[in-house]
Amino acid sequence: MNVLGLETSCDETSAAVVRDGTDLLANAVSSQIAVHRPYGGVVPELASRNHLQLIDTIVTDALREAKLSFNDLDAVAATYGPGLSSSLLIGLNAGKGIALALGVPFIAINHMEAHLYSPLITSTLQPSNTPFPFICLIVSGGHTILAHATGIGQHEILGQTLDDAAGEAFDKVAKLLGLGYPGGPEIDRLTQNGNPAAIAFPRSMLDDPSHNFSFSGLKTAVMYYLRKNGCSGGLRPPLASEPENRRSQSAATIADVCASFQEAVVDVLVGKTVRAAEERGVRVVAAAGGVSVNRRFRAKLAETCWQRGWQLLLAEPALCTDNAAMIAALAYHKLPAADWAVDVEPSVGLV
Ligand code: KG4
Ligand code: ZN
Repeated sequence: MNVLGLETSCDETSAAVVRDGTDLLANAVSSQIAVHRPYGGVVPELASRNHLQLIDTIVTDALREAKLSFNDLDAVAATYGPGLSSSLLIGLNAGKGIALALGVPFIAINHMEAHLYSPLITSTLQPSNTPFPFICLIVSGGHTILAHATGIGQHEILGQTLDDAAGEAFDKVAKLLGLGYPGGPEIDRLTQNGNPAAIAFPRSMLDDPSHNFSFSGLKTAVMYYLRKNGCSGGLRPPLASEPENRRSQSAATIADVCASFQEAVVDVLVGKTVRAAEERGVRVVAAAGGVSVNRRFRAKLAETCWQRGWQLLLAEPALCTDNAAMIAALAYHKLPAADWAVDVEPSVGLV
């Protein structure tokens, strides 16, 4: 079964071909980061126009990479939400058109559900080697969700962020520091020379009994720290609004601020994931979404799982950030029960 997947929910235009749910034949991704960087965030109008310009080239690229033609496709899938409506429409309409022209099923896929099962692509998802049940932390620019999965399409949302998503916090803190967009990779890079214990930023909701998250307080704590102390070596000088004598004698470096902020986020993400697994008696942990590329996060989660003898499922970085492979892979598993979802509309729902 060859499934063509399309992903256009935000600022990546992607087309992928996945065979039988796990065999990744092609995953073409075109990122619009350079288009949106001057604005410090994604501009929806520019995003949809770029998707429209690129979608046919990306589909052609994916088929060429997979060494297949349209006639080799058995189904087509596209993200229906959540995401930017005007961007979702591009992938949805392209996917529906291709499916209708070929006379094959069209499957509309939830972006977050695709992230949730993405660690299973190219890994252990064989009927005889099932990873279920597992706890998955989906941690991206728009969402932070803890889910308990007992089978494909069978999952319970345990908690989610009450305000900013973890990736959003990375992006906003990077902006405060005058770093580029998107901020996550920039902060990840700068932490190499920073001291994660330099500043004691809050671990919001780490001890809260719920499985929910909150990152806006942490972002505000970084903002107040910078107002009071500034930071040396920054791309932008310390904010001048505070009198010199109220600034700390030994302002932390920009790398220290990055490392301390990142450590606070990682402590919360790993701590709450572990507690969810313990509470549910689950010994397999997965993580997905753009922030799960973060090196400190991967290392700390790996170490924590290793100490407990748990299995860890982490997708390779290219399958953590937005991609169509996860859309095609999930569609394969949904195919037996799927309607020909040609009347589907973009949606902003959760998983
Ligand atoms: O999953 P994704 O590609 O798109 C969404 O569905 O949101 O995630 C993008 C987010 C951005 O906020 C970006 O800053 C963050 O993932 N990100 C990272 C890293 N790479 C990407 N955050 C921390 N460390 C990274 N290395
Ligand atoms: Zn995503």
